[in-house]
Amino acid sequence: MRTVHSLKELRAILRGYRQQEKTIGLVPTMGNLHEGHISLVRKAAEAADIVVTSIFVNPMQFGANEDLDTYPRTLIEDQEKLSAAGNTLVFAPSADEVYPDGLARHTRIVVPEVSDGHCGASRPGHFEGVATVVSVLFNMIQPDFAVFGEKDFQQLAVIRKMTRDLMMPVEVIGAPTVREEDGLAKSSRNGYLSEQERIIAPAIYQALQTTSEKIANGRDDFPVLAQEAGDSLREAGLRLDYFNIANSQTLKPAAPEDREVTLLAAAFLGTTRLIDNISVTR
Ligand code: PAF
Repeated sequence: MRTVHSLKELRAILRGYRQQEKTIGLVPTMGNLHEGHISLVRKAAEAADIVVTSIFVNPMQFGANEDLDTYPRTLIEDQEKLSAAGNTLVFAPSADEVYPDGLARHTRIVVPEVSDGHCGASRPGHFEGVATVVSVLFNMIQPDFAVFGEKDFQQLAVIRKMTRDLMMPVEVIGAPTVREEDGLAKSSRNGYLSEQERIIAPAIYQALQTTSEKIANGRDDFPVLAQEAGDSLREAGLRLDYFNIANSQTLKPAAPEDREVTLLAAAFLGTTRLIDNISVTR
């Protein structure tokens, strides 16, 4: 498995694969890979001949008070995991390679409506940063497929909409969330949790599950359900960012007639912000 850092080298290698009519699957990541990422690589390998995993901690999607500087950078360990999972190529560009004129001068992609609310409300500019870097990566790599985790439900919706609106010839594939045994969604940020916080963290998934069961059993008083779930998270010792029940397509507040709804939650343990979601068909 090779690792390349420059766009020039990447394009030369990919040109060779295309001449052999190989299909290319992309797994965009920020590194510090866990089983969730590896499941994305395996899914990409099912759909494409060549799997490229990008590792780039994207400064544009971090807010001023967020964890850009402390975000774990573990390239050597990541390479070992990717090689074992059947990845073909790692693309680990520098910020200069991705944003040659600097962040402030770079063209930005704004995806309206689905970027609003939920994480978009708590993290202004976050989805602009995600959409911009994903569109740059799509243009750099020109994959046939790209695989993203459903754990970042709103991110996946933003990327699907961007790809459709800008007629990008890339098929976007969602992959199910991978969980710890106690239900906690795998995340690079779980590594920030203290022993005590780690014990509390599965409360997020429990609140999502309890609420989804209530919905499956016929309740449709969504604002009340969201309030109850939020209270249960506060009681468990988390600081609630949001607990929302949304239409799965539009991500707008769910209405009683909606068939597909998604429960989205974000909460802090200390300074660590965790997110998770569950979708329910009614
Ligand atoms: O989900 C992530 O790790 C990032 O948001 C992504 C899609 C790699 C863009 O930087």
